[in-house]
Amino acid sequence: MIGLRTIAAVTLLLGKLGLVYAQKAVYAHFMVGIVQDYSVDDWKADMADAKAIGIDGFALNCAPPRVDSYTLTQLGFAYQAAAESNFTVFISFDFSYWQNDDTDLIITTLQNYSSLPGQAKYNGGAIASTFIGEYFDWTPVKAVLDITALPNMEDPIQATELHTDFDGAFSWLAWPTDGGNSIIPGPMTTVWDDKFFEWLDGKPYMMPVSPWFSTHFDSKNWVFICEQLITDRWEEILAEQPQLVEIISWNDFGESHYISGPEPNHTDDGSSEWAVGMPHDAWRRVMQPYIAAYKAGASAPTVDAEGLVYWYRPTPKDVKCTNDPLPAPNGIDLLTDAIFVTTMLTELANLTVTSGSQAPVTVSVGPGVVTNNFTMGVGTQTFALSRNGVKILGGQGGLEIVDTCETYNFNAYVGGF
Ligand SMILES: *[C@@H]1O[C@H](CO)[C@@H](O)[C@H](O)[C@H]1NC(C)=O
Ligand SMILES: *[C@@H]1O[C@H](CO)[C@@H](O)[C@H](O)[C@H]1NC(C)=O
Ligand SMILES: *[C@@H]1O[C@H](CO)[C@@H](O)[C@H](O)[C@H]1NC(C)=O
Ligand SMILES: *[C@@H]1O[C@H](CO)[C@@H](O)[C@H](O)[C@H]1NC(C)=O
Ligand SMILES: *[C@@H]1O[C@H](CO)[C@@H](O)[C@H](O)[C@H]1NC(C)=O
Repeated sequence: MIGLRTIAAVTLLLGKLGLVYAQKAVYAHFMVGIVQDYSVDDWKADMADAKAIGIDGFALNCAPPRVDSYTLTQLGFAYQAAAESNFTVFISFDFSYWQNDDTDLIITTLQNYSSLPGQAKYNGGAIASTFIGEYFDWTPVKAVLDITALPNMEDPIQATELHTDFDGAFSWLAWPTDGGNSIIPGPMTTVWDDKFFEWLDGKPYMMPVSPWFSTHFDSKNWVFICEQLITDRWEEILAEQPQLVEIISWNDFGESHYISGPEPNHTDDGSSEWAVGMPHDAWRRVMQPYIAAYKAGASAPTVDAEGLVYWYRPTPKDVKCTNDPLPAPNGIDLLTDAIFVTTMLTELANLTVTSGSQAPVTVSVGPGVVTNNFTMGVGTQTFALSRNGVKILGGQGGLEIVDTCETYNFNAYVGGF
């Protein structure tokens, strides 16, 4: 008798042999603009962390050499590190800096790198992508190179309107928004993704997933309402099963959506004010089972190792900071003063959270990957998982929540047990 379990096992085997889900891959957006001092070993350290959770490659967001003189050197290091790490990379031309008439430069750049062994491919073609840049015409590039062009489209309708010889699209609409940078209340939906699927009409869609968004530069000063986005969005990815996924981001400290380690050798664009001392590493543990599930075509993640990951902002949203030349970020009124806990369990357990001055709260949590939230209290944060009265793991959060501040910080502190 062929049961469901047999079918699942055969599907998994075919998947492992590369026969069923050969094309599926998860990439992470990597800001080359902050790693001008990187060595090949620095690249390899990042790649090892990414590979450890099942990420297949980095989308190398970069400016042209006329803007960042080190771009080509660092692309060379990245391709070398990828080849030596069994990892992949592709170039994501950042059209805040590249222009539509940079065709010759884009061709010579792709000629230089896209046949190297570390190049990520889709359907046999070397992947090339962009940030914005949807009006760039790929026709002359594809006349001389075997490229799979997956530009960022700012609006899915462009998939029906553009005549740029694109092969698919990547979306940057990874946070709740009515389009562009408009801020709306959560939760995240797939309203934009559904339009991409419809209008791409079978062409590959690189669906974005991000854990957070908060930025506090004078030129951009806002949050998106995305407090438990990490698991909500991965559930959407499992439901939609896009051809490709791009995590936004690996190391964009400026927008607070990094999942990398602190990258000791990156340069500081001013984001150290909100990113230093605010680790996000534990979010990689949340992503790992989702990445595996996505690649297996599964509708839910499988937990192999039990754990707990928590995150929260350093202050309640109404606290006024005393020494900040900038106002508080736009959108914060829509945030909730809550702390978030993702449990990864194989069996039912009790989760007890004590958030500062709030009374302890205990909830029963089922197996799988589950996110709960708790009212934020000023003070020490403690987390405990127990089963049948015995504590299985937990401890104190790595940062106290306070009700004073000098400068606004709506980044998340992320830790785990
Ligand atoms: C080709 O790659 C090498 C190694 O990264 C780099 O030094 C060189 O400038 C690149 N040339 C072009 C035209 O991209
Ligand atoms: C390289 O990576 C691929 C895809 O992740 C994997 O199938 C293969 O086994 C790896 N090879 C080595 C030598 O690690
Ligand atoms: C980068 O940082 C690490 C950790 O601090 C250090 O070991 C390494 O030598 C650094 N690399 C360079 C090129 O400075
Ligand atoms: C907190 O959890 C509740 C119950 O699952 C949910 O309805 C609510 O949206 C969550 N709050 C936030 C800010 O995510
Ligand atoms: C959770 O706590 C309740 C109340 O103390 C208890 O009855 C239940 O057995 C606990 N569940 C687990 C899985 O330990």
